[in-house]
Parts: sequence; C-alpha cells; structure tokens
Amino acid sequence: MRLEGKVALVTGSAQGIGRAIALRLAAEGADIIIDDRADDSRAEEVLAKVKESGRRGCVIAGDLGNIADDRRMIAEGVRQMGKIDILVNNAGVEKNASFWDVTEADYDFVLDINLKGTFFATQSFVNHLRETKRPGKIINLSSVHEELPFPHFTSYCASKGGLKMMTRNLAIELAPLGITINNIAPGAIETPINAKLLNSPDLLAALLGNIPMKRLGKPEDVAGIAAFLASSDSDYMTGTTLFVDGGLLWNYSEQ
Ligand code: BGC
Repeated sequence: MRLEGKVALVTGSAQGIGRAIALRLAAEGADIIIDDRADDSRAEEVLAKVKESGRRGCVIAGDLGNIADDRRMIAEGVRQMGKIDILVNNAGVEKNASFWDVTEADYDFVLDINLKGTFFATQSFVNHLRETKRPGKIINLSSVHEELPFPHFTSYCASKGGLKMMTRNLAIELAPLGITINNIAPGAIETPINAKLLNSPDLLAALLGNIPMKRLGKPEDVAGIAAFLASSDSDYMTGTTLFVDGGLLWNYSEQ
C-alpha cells in the first residue's frame, strides 16, 4: 500500500470528489481526517467506511472561509491523529450570475472558501510540517476553469486562476522544505456541485457535446490522480496541474 503510515486531511470530504478521495487514500493505507461544514450523517458515513477499510479517522467540522476555523482544523487534526502528511484542499463552491449582478456576499462566499480558505489552511499545514521538520504533500482541487473561461462564473474562475498561481508560487517557496504542491483540474464530474446540470437534459446534452469522451467524469476518476499525487510516485512533481476532464479543455473542431 502506497500510503501506509501517512495521515491525510481532505477538506469537503463528506460528499462528491472529496469523499471519493478520502476513501481512495484510505484504501491506499492512509489514516484520514474528514473535514466538512458540519459533522453530520454524511461525514460520519465516510468515517465509518474509512474504519471499515482498517484505517483510523476522525471528523472535524468547520467553515473553510473562516481563517480561525482553518487554523483550528489543522491543529485539531494533529491533536487527534498525531500528525498530518498530506493536505487535500478539495472544498469548493460556485455561484452562477451575470457579472453585473454579482453581489459582494456571493463574491466573498466563493473567494473565501475556494482561495482564502485554501491559502490559510495550507499555511497552517506548512507551519505544522516546519515545526516537526517533515516533508509533505499538498494537493489542490482546482478546475479546468483555472485556464478555461466560464461565463457567468467569474468569481469561481478568479478563485481557480488564483489557485493556479498560488500553486506555482508555493512550489518554489516550499521545495527547500521537501513539500510538493500540485493541482488537479477536474472537468465536469458527477457530483452535487453539478446537481442542476445533471437534472437538465438540455444543459447536459450541450455539455457532453464539448467533452470528446462523451461522458461526465466520476469522482473515482479524480480520486486515482489524488492517490498518485499523495504518493512517493509523484515525488519529483511540483507546481503542476493535472487535468482530468475527458478532453474538455483542449477540445476544438470545425465539423
Ligand atoms: C464546475 C462545474 C462545470 C465543470 C465543467 C467545474 O469546475 O464546478 O460546474 O460543469 O467545471 O465546466
């Protein structure tokens, strides 16, 4: 097992891609800290599955958009599990609105969770690694929209573009500490963030027309890449984005 003896914290892991990553890292041998907004039945169900696979785990609830919660999440994770080796910044939200209608509250909601929360959770994690003089792995769940425009989702694109530059910057700054940082950029994946799309045949057909593989991704398609980035198989990679999108990003044709 590639992750035996490691402890991973996965934000937003009560559902969707985060849940699949938590379960996959557990299957690879890691103990798992599950984080979500609430310690509810969904988070507890993921914890039960982690334990079924023979691993240790715990649930820590918090609001990622709140810096005090980000710091508490890392400190509490270390207190309960002894250490953290791998941080998966998965939690993310989006709001659909024309640019001229975006409210300050909606802008703050998206940027605070997707970018500020990731920034300060990562800062606390890095300080934990510095204090304990250990290497580590940071994996950010970005999006094809760190590159690709997504009209009516400008705050979301700004947050993901910000994540791209955060990762490139930190790759340089953290390399001397033995810490790697990489992004996974999913395309359209079957998760709750896409609930509206999945329930609208017209929207879905239009999206599938843009995906060369002609299907949405599954959370497990993303989780395998996270396991690779969490493992020593990716030790010489840092500052990179891996796209998991069925070909969506670079799709162009005139037929
Ligand atoms: C967004 C989805 C969107 C997908 C493909 C993801 O980052 O969260 O809403 O369908 O990108 O455009």
